[in-house]
Amino acid sequence: MLKALVLSGGTGTRMRPLTGTIPKQLIPVANKPIIHYVMEQIASLGINDVGVIISPETGQAVKESLADGGRWNLNISYIVQDKPAGLAHAVLTARDYLGESSFLMYLGDNLISHSLGDMLDSFLRGGDDSVVLVKKVRDPGRFGVAVVNDNFKILRLVEKPERFVSSFALVGLYLFNKSIHKAIEEITPSARGELEITDAIQRLLEKGGNVSCSLVRGWWFDTGRKEDLLKANRVLLDERSERKVEGVIISGDSRVEGRVQIGQGSSIAGSVVIGPAVLGEGVEVINSYIGPFSSIGNNCLLNGVRLENTIVLNHSSLTDKLYITESLIGRHCHITGGAATVDMVRVNLGDWAEVRLSWV
Ligand code: G1P
Repeated sequence: MLKALVLSGGTGTRMRPLTGTIPKQLIPVANKPIIHYVMEQIASLGINDVGVIISPETGQAVKESLADGGRWNLNISYIVQDKPAGLAHAVLTARDYLGESSFLMYLGDNLISHSLGDMLDSFLRGGDDSVVLVKKVRDPGRFGVAVVNDNFKILRLVEKPERFVSSFALVGLYLFNKSIHKAIEEITPSARGELEITDAIQRLLEKGGNVSCSLVRGWWFDTGRKEDLLKANRVLLDERSERKVEGVIISGDSRVEGRVQIGQGSSIAGSVVIGPAVLGEGVEVINSYIGPFSSIGNNCLLNGVRLENTIVLNHSSLTDKLYITESLIGRHCHITGGAATVDMVRVNLGDWAEVRLSWV
C-alpha cells in the first residue's frame, strides 16, 4: 500500500521573521495552515498512512496542529529528523517507517491545484521507479530543475543551477518506489551541506532507473517567501472562498459584499467588507474598510483602518488611520497609525511586533 511522507522540518529562513516562532508549514493561507491543504490532498487520493517529518525545534507545534490525522481519516506517524540535512536525509530518517512501500513525498510548504489522481494511477500500474512533477518557471535558479528532451524524457536533474540549464522546476512532490533508498545511500552532501533528493533521483537515472516527469497544470506555490504566500492567499480566496456570515453582528450602516466568510462571535460596525475575504472568530471590525484578498485570523481588532491583500494572524490589532496592503502580520502584533493623512503601509512582521506610525 502506498504511503505518504510529508516534510515539515526545515528552518524557514526565507520566511523570517514569522518563522522565528511559527514553522513555515503552519503559516495560514486563507486562514488555514498550508500543511492542512497538503493533508486534504493526500486524503483525497485514498492514501491512509502518512509519515510526517518534524524537527526537534518545531515538531511539537506541528503535532498539535495535525494531531493523529483523524480529522482527515489519516493515520499520522511522526518522525523526528535531528538536523535539517536535506530532503534525501529526511527519506533516510524515515527508512524504517517506509519499509518496502512505494510512497508519495510531499513538501509541507508546497501548495498545488493539480489533481494527482492520474499521476498516481499510472505510477501504481508500474514501470516507473519515480515520477517527478515539473512546472515551467521564470526563475529556475531558485529550484531543482529537470533537463528534458522534446518527448519530455528526463535527461538530467540539477539542484539550484547557477547557470541556465532548464526552465522546468521540480515541484515539491515526488513518487518513489523502494529503489530510491539505494540511490540515497550512494550520494554525498551537496555544496550547501545537504543530502539532496535531486541528486538521489539523478543517481537513480544513472543506474538505469525509470524516472518520468509529469507537467503541473494550474498553479503551484512553493510558499518560501512573503510574495509567494500573498499570491497563494489571493488565488485560494479567489477560487475557493464562499459567503458565510452566520453568528456575526453587523451594525451601523455596515456592508458585507461578495464572498466573505466571517467566524462566530465577530462583529462589523460602521464598516465595509468586500470579498473574497475571510475573517476568523471573535474579530472586531470598527469604522474600517476590509478589501479583497484579506485573511484575518481569530480575535483580531481592526479599528479605523483600510486593509487589503494582507494576511493577519490571530490576536493582532490594527488601529487608527492605517492603510495596510500587501502585508504579512504575525500573532499578537499591534500596529497604530494616528496620522493626519493616511499613507500606504506594507509590512512583514513576526509575532509580538509593535509598530507606532507618526507623520511629521
Ligand atoms: C526543495 C528542493 C528543490 C525543489 C523545491 C520545491 O528546495 O530541493 O529541488 O525545486 O524544494 O519547493 P528547498 O525548498 O529545499 O530550497
